[in-house]
Amino acid sequence: MLDILVLAAGKGTRMRSDLPKVLHPIGGKALVQHVVDTARKVGGEQILIIVGHGAEKVEERMAAPDVKFVLQAQQLGTGHAVQQALPQLRNDATVLILYGDVPLTRAETLQKLIAGVNEKQMGLLTVNMPDPTEYGRILRDNSGAVIAIVEHKDASDEQKKIAEINTGIMAVKAAHLQKWLPQLKNNNAQGEFYLTDIIALAKADGVAIHVEQPDAIEEVEGINNRRQQAALECFYQKQKANELMDAGVTLLDPHRVDVRGSLTVGRDVIIDVNCVFEGDVVLGDGVVIEPNCIIINSRIGNNSRIKAFSHLEDAELAANCDIGPYARLRPGTQLADDVKIGNFVETKKAVIAKGSKVNHLSYIGDATIGTKVNVGAGTITCNYDGVNKFKTEIGDNAFIGSNSALVAPVKIGAGSTVGAGSIITKDVEEAELAIARSKQRNIQGWERPTKK
Ligand code: UD1
Ligand code: CA
Repeated sequence: MLDILVLAAGKGTRMRSDLPKVLHPIGGKALVQHVVDTARKVGGEQILIIVGHGAEKVEERMAAPDVKFVLQAQQLGTGHAVQQALPQLRNDATVLILYGDVPLTRAETLQKLIAGVNEKQMGLLTVNMPDPTEYGRILRDNSGAVIAIVEHKDASDEQKKIAEINTGIMAVKAAHLQKWLPQLKNNNAQGEFYLTDIIALAKADGVAIHVEQPDAIEEVEGINNRRQQAALECFYQKQKANELMDAGVTLLDPHRVDVRGSLTVGRDVIIDVNCVFEGDVVLGDGVVIEPNCIIINSRIGNNSRIKAFSHLEDAELAANCDIGPYARLRPGTQLADDVKIGNFVETKKAVIAKGSKVNHLSYIGDATIGTKVNVGAGTITCNYDGVNKFKTEIGDNAFIGSNSALVAPVKIGAGSTVGAGSIITKDVEEAELAIARSKQRNIQGWERPTKK
């Protein structure tokens, strides 16, 4: 039985932000969301988030069936924070204590920590820091057993030399917390109730401290300012890049790809530099993403190519599509196999069937386009009258001449042709030619004005 506490009441002054610290992102996801996701992975049946500063915003964002919020109105220390949750803990539970601003702890590390917890033992995650300043230090006796934690501000000069520090993360029986927390005192340098003091109480009760260490320091690093946030973001993106390469992706430069969500890839995908992937993105086999693309919540079919500087959001592409450069596919764009969308083309709620082309400088919105249609340069679907949206339907094999305006609602029949520069306001039947532009007049002998 596992209860998980997430301490997230602190103010985060050094972020200098109106947003509560734990809602700031790493990899596009709030810090505390990372922690809660990990808590679920390790099997936390009940997740209790201790909130204080910005409580409303945190509760609004993190509400979920397995999550409860406990308000710590005044932040009187980490021990005090855990104390607020005592009434909610199940008596037989093992309690894992995590921090809302420590986002990248691996579930495997926590599982090892939890495995060491029983009536005679509690778990403590420590790490050796090159610069341990500011952290609580781990005190051990001659046999090497952990006997206490001393906070930096309370430590003697001798103790400050200790490199092994408290990550803050621990796992302990609920019954032990029930017993020890009421005994905490705040007669220390910061006048706070330190959670760390339970280590000495455990020792006094004959409960051993089982220590685990993470594989990487970044796993236990917290975020207090924007520099630390940027550093962890970097670490996170490095991990993502490694995962992608391990999955068989060619990254032209692993330092210049950003994954802010989940990126699922097929075989032999190539991603060039400076691409950003947000939300859920799926790339099929052989997909090529050229430099400087942003792809949000989209699926891209096998062997499609997204050329440089394209922006895709909520788009679904089948196989062999050829997009961009400089294309913008907005939500509701659905492209069948072999569709070509060229430079400076914007699509929105556009369903385009196999083999059709919109190659240059067009806007296609609220439209369905059949197979093998050619939409000429500069074609605009006029889908909006300022209040309502209307649909444009274009049949198979239609040919839309350049610089046409299709004023919706309008249907262009299969096999029909629209002359260049037309403003189409009426339906065009199958196989018809529609020309809707003023006739050309040529005036002979006309003299251009000249400067005197
Ligand atoms: C704490 C540990 C220290 C450890 C360090 C690791 C204590 C006394 N010290 O120190 O040994 O090395 O973390 O980063 O535990 N919080 C609350 N309510 C409070 C106080 C804190 O929710 O009343 C939350 C904060 O939002 C933060 C976390 O607990 O996420 C840690 O608090 P902080 O004040 O930063 O503790 P440190 O002094 O860093
Ligand atoms: Ca801290």
